[in-house]
Amino acid sequence: MNIVILAAGQGKRMHSNLPKVLHPLAGKALVSHVIDAARSLAPRTICLVYGHGGDAVRTTIDAPDLRWALQEPQLGTGHAVQQAMPQLSNAPTTLVLYGDVPLIQPATLQALVHAARDALAILTVELADPGGYGRIVRDATNQVVRIVEQKDASAEERAIREVNSGIVALPTARLAEWLSGLSNDNAQQEYYLTDIVGLAVAAGVPIRTVSAQGQWEVLGVNSKAQLAELERVAQRRTADRLLEQGVRLADPARLDVRGEISCGRDVFIDVNCVFEGRVVLEEAVEVGPCCVLRNATIGAGSRLAAFSHIDGAVVGPDGVIGPFARLRPGTELAAGVHVGNFVELKNAKVAAQSKANHLAYVGDAIIGSRVNIGAGTITCNYDGANKFRTIIEDDVFIGSDTQLVAPVTVGRGATLGAGTTLTKNAPPDTLTISRARQVSISGWKRPQKANK
Ligand code: UD1
Ligand code: CA
Repeated sequence: MNIVILAAGQGKRMHSNLPKVLHPLAGKALVSHVIDAARSLAPRTICLVYGHGGDAVRTTIDAPDLRWALQEPQLGTGHAVQQAMPQLSNAPTTLVLYGDVPLIQPATLQALVHAARDALAILTVELADPGGYGRIVRDATNQVVRIVEQKDASAEERAIREVNSGIVALPTARLAEWLSGLSNDNAQQEYYLTDIVGLAVAAGVPIRTVSAQGQWEVLGVNSKAQLAELERVAQRRTADRLLEQGVRLADPARLDVRGEISCGRDVFIDVNCVFEGRVVLEEAVEVGPCCVLRNATIGAGSRLAAFSHIDGAVVGPDGVIGPFARLRPGTELAAGVHVGNFVELKNAKVAAQSKANHLAYVGDAIIGSRVNIGAGTITCNYDGANKFRTIIEDDVFIGSDTQLVAPVTVGRGATLGAGTTLTKNAPPDTLTISRARQVSISGWKRPQKANK
């Protein structure tokens, strides 16, 4: 089949400089949801009709399997499909999707395409409030005879609750002929794709309707309010899928997945967590409230306490992270690592059982096993121009409030005394300390206020 995705409309009601179809839903552009649904049907051709904000749409979305047709000016949905004609193959069926109807499901489209083998198939839905949509007009024998747009409808027709989703499938062989038969003699002076229904009826081609699973599936985005509404629908569907897989969610209404999440058995996710990009939570992981995870893998049995922020990092099994921990890109923690409050790790490889429990910055570092990093430890990895590496070998104990001025190595089993500013390598199995000697001056008196 051919698939045409209409995405040339302006989206005035979004009040945005970003073209409508590029607005994100669940972390992905609206039109990308539609393209993914299209791809799942393995069509011969996918052609996007673009126009308003065209270059931005094309450059952001382009991929080798997509064809593009520019519609300039935009004279209606029928005119839009006409622009795609030169790009289409002679595959028997052509399916028309809308770039701003993101939650359309592959199974529904399959049914529609099946229905279109010898007919014009229209995806319809019953709405309590059909305002704004094209209405499906049926005759006394319940056959569809035409679609009438809201602006062209009589009062009687406006009372019809079955509406056109806009998504149709039809025999490709008829398409060119029907499109050239359209006129713009209507309230909006546009070439309506919906008018092909009347042409099909006249040609004796049967009209079939297929209904959507739910109205959410065919809801379009025309405003920020509708975008927010569909975001909730998409999130609720993700939450339901996770629950079905056995994930325990403290509240399915307070979960945001803006990408892909995969969970092992017995995972628990507390409220208000945000997951972006690709996130993997292995078996029995617990995520505390208000955590943000982006492109992260969390090993089996690890616990993330409240307000932890994890970006581009891997946490090994049985880790204990947070509250208020920040793991930045390139961080890899082995098994049983503890990272406590107000500890920031960047591009740091930490071997098993090491701990940094309070207030530390560890960047561009390689840390061995069973290392203890005291409160207030800082790797000084940046001299204002270049970055340098810190190496801390196994079984090292770093006292509190220590600065490690990189490049520097702390040898296996070494201890650094509290307050040390390390500028040279510390030898293994030795106490290294840099600290002004403590003196106590006996007989010293505090200054007194001068008597006037
Ligand atoms: C259209 C249908 C209406 C249906 C409704 C469902 C027509 C005439 N009407 O109305 O029956 O109930 O969708 O949402 O088809 N587009 C272009 N080029 C154009 C005009 C539109 O690419 O010249 C694209 C838009 O970007 C959008 C889609 O087509 O993705 C629908 O356009 P829109 O103007 O929103 O159509 P409606 O008036 O809502
Ligand atoms: Ca619309």
